[in-house]
Amino acid sequence: QQCDIGFIGLGVMGKNLVLNLADNGFTIAAFDLDNDKVSDAIKQDKFENNSDIERVIGCSSYTELLSKLKSPHLIVLSVPAGEPVDQVSESLIGAGIQPDDIVIDTGNSLWVDTVAREEKYKNNFILFSSAVSGGEEGARFGPSLMPSGAPYAWTRIQPIWEAIAAKVDPKTGKPLERTKPGQIIEHGEPCTTYIGPAGAGHYVKMVHNGIEYADMQIICEAYHVLRAGLSLSTDEIADIFEQWNQGPLDSYLMEISVEVLRHKDNEGKPLVDLILDKAGQKGTGLWTAVSSLEVGAPAPTITQAVYARSISSFKELRIAAEPLLSGPEQITFSAEEKHAFIENLHDALYCSKICAYAQGFQLMKLAEKEHGWQLNFANIAKIWRAGCIIRAAFLQSITDAFQRNEDLESLILDEFFAQQLSKNQMSWRKAIAKITLMGIPAGALSSSLSYYDSMRTAVLPANLLQGQRDYFGAHTFERVDKSKGKKYHVQWGTPDKNMIEI
Ligand code: 6PG
Repeated sequence: QQCDIGFIGLGVMGKNLVLNLADNGFTIAAFDLDNDKVSDAIKQDKFENNSDIERVIGCSSYTELLSKLKSPHLIVLSVPAGEPVDQVSESLIGAGIQPDDIVIDTGNSLWVDTVAREEKYKNNFILFSSAVSGGEEGARFGPSLMPSGAPYAWTRIQPIWEAIAAKVDPKTGKPLERTKPGQIIEHGEPCTTYIGPAGAGHYVKMVHNGIEYADMQIICEAYHVLRAGLSLSTDEIADIFEQWNQGPLDSYLMEISVEVLRHKDNEGKPLVDLILDKAGQKGTGLWTAVSSLEVGAPAPTITQAVYARSISSFKELRIAAEPLLSGPEQITFSAEEKHAFIENLHDALYCSKICAYAQGFQLMKLAEKEHGWQLNFANIAKIWRAGCIIRAAFLQSITDAFQRNEDLESLILDEFFAQQLSKNQMSWRKAIAKITLMGIPAGALSSSLSYYDSMRTAVLPANLLQGQRDYFGAHTFERVDKSKGKKYHVQWGTPDKNMIEI
């Protein structure tokens, strides 16, 4: 039997993608260095499929995998980003892969590595990339897929990707849920679109993850304020989040936060209270923050979310500092004040969320210019409406904003988002003011407010900064009362007449 697709790497994501492909009628030749994983995927497919038909064919070597595929070969990699991608690529070359064969890297590779790999392997095979978002469940029942690379390869991959991707109801913009093995959704808009040349898809996925970090962090800060500031129980916070999830904050990340907060251990204790407060990270959020600094895109909410994870990792230092460094007295709230504060906190979360997405999209826009890509932001927002980790009702509003104006420089300039921010800004300020007085860290929520205020301020103190630079380094400055582009330098400490026009 000649299979449609070769698949390498049957970890949780890989296995679920294989089962998803099989549900959608594709036959798969599967290989993993760990043979048990191959047998496990075959067994699970037969069990879920309730039949002996072999939709997944096990292979015990790269050569066998190639021999079981239709030509030109189409091979999907689901291996950890970095070195493993090169190891598998070299093994495929050793096994006789052909120049017109296509290899799709679905991991969270660093985008510049993808660009270099496409070049490195171009005489051996076509390296295509398509990051996958949605975790285990997304991989199984419909992820969001961000493909990029040679357009020729995309024509071959497109029907397969559109079949396995999450789907959205075009009328409502809401996900069309697929929850059972064997179930397929033939209609709806698939959450995949060709992003651009090599590297562009991985860049967009990287920014997705940067936004994911920010979105997670602002939810965590709201939880912290409610737990430590208002002394609410985890169930009470879950109730509040559940209610918030009915409005503009409706999202997968809110939904899972409710579930995490409600979860009890065997002794009935809230599990979240027992989880060590040290955050892990694999690097994509950090890469987004680094890229924002390199490109010159202001992304403080995203960057702060990365810092928050780093700060969390200094557990011992924080324990040592707690008795040493004083904070404010505990604030007491009347029932009425509590209620008003919770509403303000909701608005702070919503406005910060808008800022985080505005930062991510502006970053992609600046990167697009720098790298000569042609990104379609409405389509990117569309494919994030379902399947991925940041899926949210809100992504429809972002889609609408870019459909209204495809050249939109920043989401904060869109009429809908500008109105949302303006309407809620006072409430946001009240929340941040109270949080500051409570002494509860909320760097992502508060830096978002500072971002908002900076972005809406026509005159910033960078005039003084330019003066400082010119003072110690003769770095020159422009004047608001003279023609644009003209540079000046002053012999500081002497009267204005010593100004030199450069
Ligand atoms: C996704 C996730 C996924 C992964 C993150 C986790 O879109 O499905 O982003 O790619 O869970 O990489 O990243 P951290 O380990 O850095 O939190």
